[in-house]
Amino acid sequence: MKNEFDFHQPVLLEEVLSFVDHKKCTFIDLTLGRAGHSLEILKKISEGSCYVGVDYDQKAIDYSSKLLESYSSKCSLNFIHSSYANAFSKIYELGIKSADYILMDIGVSSPQFDDPERGFSYRYNAYLDMRMDQRQEKTASIVVNTYSADELEEVFTKTQCPCARRVARRIVEERGKKEIKETFELVDIIRSALPFHELNKKGHPAKQFFLALRYEVNNELKELEKGLEESLDFLSLNGRLIVISFNYQEDKIVKEHFNRRAKKTPIDKRIPVIEEEKLSYLNLTKKPIVPSEEELERNNRAKSAIMRVIERIDDER
Ligand SMILES: C[S@@+](CC[C@H](N)C(=O)[O-])C[C@H]1O[C@@H](n2cnc3c(N)ncnc32)[C@H](O)[C@@H]1O
Repeated sequence: MKNEFDFHQPVLLEEVLSFVDHKKCTFIDLTLGRAGHSLEILKKISEGSCYVGVDYDQKAIDYSSKLLESYSSKCSLNFIHSSYANAFSKIYELGIKSADYILMDIGVSSPQFDDPERGFSYRYNAYLDMRMDQRQEKTASIVVNTYSADELEEVFTKTQCPCARRVARRIVEERGKKEIKETFELVDIIRSALPFHELNKKGHPAKQFFLALRYEVNNELKELEKGLEESLDFLSLNGRLIVISFNYQEDKIVKEHFNRRAKKTPIDKRIPVIEEEKLSYLNLTKKPIVPSEEELERNNRAKSAIMRVIERIDDER
């Protein structure tokens, strides 16, 4: 019998693998999920390698650590249940001081999205949860039922939701009558607040609002910024950071961080260069990589994927 995980297809898999060599290395997957990428990477890298898998979600850790356990004779396997922004101190405690490869395939996995109980999707009726880490207190229901109208408007505006003010006010009005507990209740409220021309646009009218709430519950964009900075610092010489994001807003953050690090500072030959400063970064994907037609035919969920890769290099001054 198939279970929820059998349908999972890693996005841009061939493209990710093309940036990973067969050598002995230290590989960190910061968004382990159902280990779609990690499994193929463990097949590819050489014996004696060191592997770390990180995820916010205990279910992902439980499932994937089992799936990968047969590679423990080939590589040292480590799993960390943590947000990726906070994972590096734990990785350091394992005695790992730098990495040859770091992968971030950010956002929600298909099994999380398709599990109605997680409340990520406007397509199923469920408790308004949306937590990636179920140890956390803040749920989407807490945001929707306790934030002020101004705070809700700000959450929606940050993710360019249409009519953010109207929707925020309608939520506050409706929750005054009855607590908003379920995804379909919220979808109805959003629909009732949007004008006709918005409802008639292509795509689900609640899509952007659900994304905004997910970002707020999981602090996703701040996590992304911190995760990128920590990862860039943790790369060894010739180490690579591979990031897959899923919309313009996320990719903009990735691009800005990469560009900032890859930018060469003017060289003043009179100033002695200390060893650390000799290390710089090279953008390996000037143009982002997107899924091929063939992948899109197989997996429609890959359609908004955007991949960028950066390498830490020895700056020859
Ligand atoms: C798109 S899925 C990764 C799928 C994975 N590459 C695979 O092939 O199975 C993203 C995963 O990252 C996790 N995640 C998202 N944000 C995170 C964060 N800030 N810290 C740790 N894990 C996070 C999610 O729980 C989810 O399991």
